[in-house]
Amino acid sequence: MLSNLQKGNNKTEFVYKNPSQSADFAKYLGVDLNKLPKHIAFIMDGNGRWANSKGQKRTFGHKSGVKVVKELVKAFRFLNIPVMTVYAFSTENWKRAPEEVDFLMNLFEESIIKQCNELKENGVRVKFIGRTHELRPKLRERINWIENETKDQTGLTLNVAANYGGRTEIVDAITNITNDIEIGKINKSDINEDLISKYLYTSNQPDPDLIIRTSGEMRISNYLLWQIAYSEIWVTQTCWPDFTIPEMIQAIYDFQNRDRRFGKEK
Ligand code: FPP
Repeated sequence: MLSNLQKGNNKTEFVYKNPSQSADFAKYLGVDLNKLPKHIAFIMDGNGRWANSKGQKRTFGHKSGVKVVKELVKAFRFLNIPVMTVYAFSTENWKRAPEEVDFLMNLFEESIIKQCNELKENGVRVKFIGRTHELRPKLRERINWIENETKDQTGLTLNVAANYGGRTEIVDAITNITNDIEIGKINKSDINEDLISKYLYTSNQPDPDLIIRTSGEMRISNYLLWQIAYSEIWVTQTCWPDFTIPEMIQAIYDFQNRDRRFGKEK
């Protein structure tokens, strides 16, 4: 995992214990704290496999996955990274067994209530992205509640993608743009890349600099399709419940050592 340590430098090993050491650990690895990504988006994959490998039900993996989100939120605050997005439930995930879908909906409802105070204390603004109006009423109500409770927080925006699909997001943006043209709010000639970005669920947020996917699959799975045009992708074999802050910092180190050219020559 810690590739620059494996290159044979002779520093004494950093013993990571808790999120408050995130910046120190990053410095130790050689991360430039002045050039951190502004937005990291996670594809939290491998919960089911992780749980099954321990002889547990898949749902145990999802429950354990929430703890990882909590830890990463703390690291984001210590590192001062302003936007984090997690893929909690895709528009395709409805195809899963009804018991698993039900478990996930309960888990979202329960997590919203349990985590709200700590998120607020940590300066986190929570925003759900996706077709949240299609979720069940109790969950919708809780989503509105936590979004309202945390709306004045400015330390970190935590986007939770729920009933989210990248293509549906673009369909929704086009629908809203055409509606606004019809009512004369905007003109057809106003359409450009910036305007389309403003009509996405992530309106006014920076695009992700880095996408981290756990558990080894090399695909995007309909995630933030418009926003990731120039994002760097980092995939680890680690399953989501085993993903740690040091591993995320390793991903940031690797990200900073890539040559991002945005189409320009070398
Ligand atoms: C993918 O692993 C994971 C999910 C579809 C659910 C992820 C949700 C959480 C971790 C809960 C987060 C909750 C909040 C409130 C932020 P998988 O089930 O596809 O794993 P597999 O590939 O091993 O089957």
